[in-house]
Amino acid sequence: MAIGESGRIVIQVPPALKRKLYKDLARHGMSLRDWFLDQAEIYLNEQPSTIQDAPTMSSPLDVKNEISGNIAESARGAQSEEVGAADTVHLGNATSVKQRLISTYNMLEEKFPVRVISDDVSYASPVNFVESLKCARHRWFPYKEGFSPTFVRNFLTEFQTSKSDVVLDPFSGVGTTSLVASTIGHRAVGFDVSPMADFIARTKCITLSERELLAFDEYIRFVANTTGHAAHSVPNNDTVISYFAPEFLDALMQVKALAILSDNQNIRALAKLAFLTLVETFSTHRKAGNGVKRKTKFVYGLVDIAPFVEVRDCFVKKLQEMRQDLDEVQIGIAPDFRLGSCLDESAFADIDGIGAALTSPPYANCFDYSKIYQRELWLGDFFESAADLKTFRQGSVRSHVHASWAERHTEFSSDIVENLICEHLKDQELWSKKIPNMLSGYFKDVGALLSNIKPRMKSGASFGLVVGNSVYGGIPVATDLLIGQLALDAGFKVERIDVYRSVIPSSQQFNIMEDKRWARESMVVIQKK
Ligand SMILES: C[S@@+](CC[C@H](N)C(=O)[O-])C[C@H]1O[C@@H](n2cnc3c(N)ncnc32)[C@H](O)[C@@H]1O
Repeated sequence: MAIGESGRIVIQVPPALKRKLYKDLARHGMSLRDWFLDQAEIYLNEQPSTIQDAPTMSSPLDVKNEISGNIAESARGAQSEEVGAADTVHLGNATSVKQRLISTYNMLEEKFPVRVISDDVSYASPVNFVESLKCARHRWFPYKEGFSPTFVRNFLTEFQTSKSDVVLDPFSGVGTTSLVASTIGHRAVGFDVSPMADFIARTKCITLSERELLAFDEYIRFVANTTGHAAHSVPNNDTVISYFAPEFLDALMQVKALAILSDNQNIRALAKLAFLTLVETFSTHRKAGNGVKRKTKFVYGLVDIAPFVEVRDCFVKKLQEMRQDLDEVQIGIAPDFRLGSCLDESAFADIDGIGAALTSPPYANCFDYSKIYQRELWLGDFFESAADLKTFRQGSVRSHVHASWAERHTEFSSDIVENLICEHLKDQELWSKKIPNMLSGYFKDVGALLSNIKPRMKSGASFGLVVGNSVYGGIPVATDLLIGQLALDAGFKVERIDVYRSVIPSSQQFNIMEDKRWARESMVVIQKK
């Protein structure tokens, strides 16, 4: 096959196929060229030699053989606190910062009991929403970063002491920890800075009275028979609008108007949540890494029905699923969800008697939740202006580079991060100059959280932090070990580190990293003495 030097590709296809392809692509506002380029990219990305530039977590590439044998095999020796809490290993001036970092990690790995649950990249981790999609109430909104309910249940079974104790999740997301805790009879408190996550968590824990259930049934019937409605106005954000074909955006806005029709607050919340789940389904883009990517496969617009009817039917299906789940899972004590940052000491002022805490902070991998959920945040009216976006970013933990934070929590810094990691990174070519600052801020924030929560915990209470390690400038940022050390500094005991799976933070970084054992997702379990 002659390839030629130009960028032109000419192929002959059956005319019927061509007509159908053009028609479907037009419905999704996509040109043949865009579609082809996306397909080509997907194809090429599946080839083993491809190097990704953007940071991604948990790519299911098969690197198991490379990794196995590197990850610690079993629980290591008992933790010795005499080693000197935050001391980094000093090997003389001639030794590079990188070698000192690795030696420090090795020392910490000896100090903490490390259990390898699995070193398989495809292992279902605690942060895996696949199970939630099959569970009543949990399945109401797909939050990829959410916990698996079974993981939460197992943690609470192992660590919860008494039903009267509080179960805390300081980065509660869509409330998996609190929902599970509440269904087994615990008092639960959850914090999140995202107004959308907070809304979803609250809505998933709604209990309707008998009268409200009847009104909800009636509302569902009404919507199912509606043939059209005046559309709600679109958000003031051109980027968000550009992610939809005009006729489907209009259909979505008609359904949004229906979602806020009920005069019952609980029904309105349920309907708004059902609407939120439609946003990605009917968008021309899907979530991918730290943002969105144009879809190449569509599940909508493939049959000749009016866009409104198609969106409405999907909405009704979601409402019916919710109706069924309301009967199936009863909420015990309604969890106490608080919209706000867990990094503020005052947030915990009225919380005492924490018997167990479980959380997963955003990983230090540059992912920005306001980008990943941008469409839902704006279409759901959680963000109405740039100021709302700024407030969210300013309140969030310093895990990405899309904001400039004023210096805060300087008293909780990690010596290892400041003296070794940032020192090494200052000479490296990084894709963003802000990364060292972000890492420094991330661990100061986690240190502040540990200090905030400790006085509120009961003696002997355990706190599980599920984290993903990252890699920058060819060196691992072993978040699990670094948090273990921060916890020791804050006066906790490190019970163990459970390694759940290997992850590939970015294949480019992964390839140049010498020791791959620290590219992993794990849970650090610490205990208040
Ligand atoms: C990995 S998600 C947690 C998911 C959760 N485990 C679940 O099952 O839904 C991390 C959450 O932390 C939130 N977050 C970021 N900074 C925060 C802060 N300073 N205080 C409270 N929550 C924060 C994010 O909005 C995000 O929802």
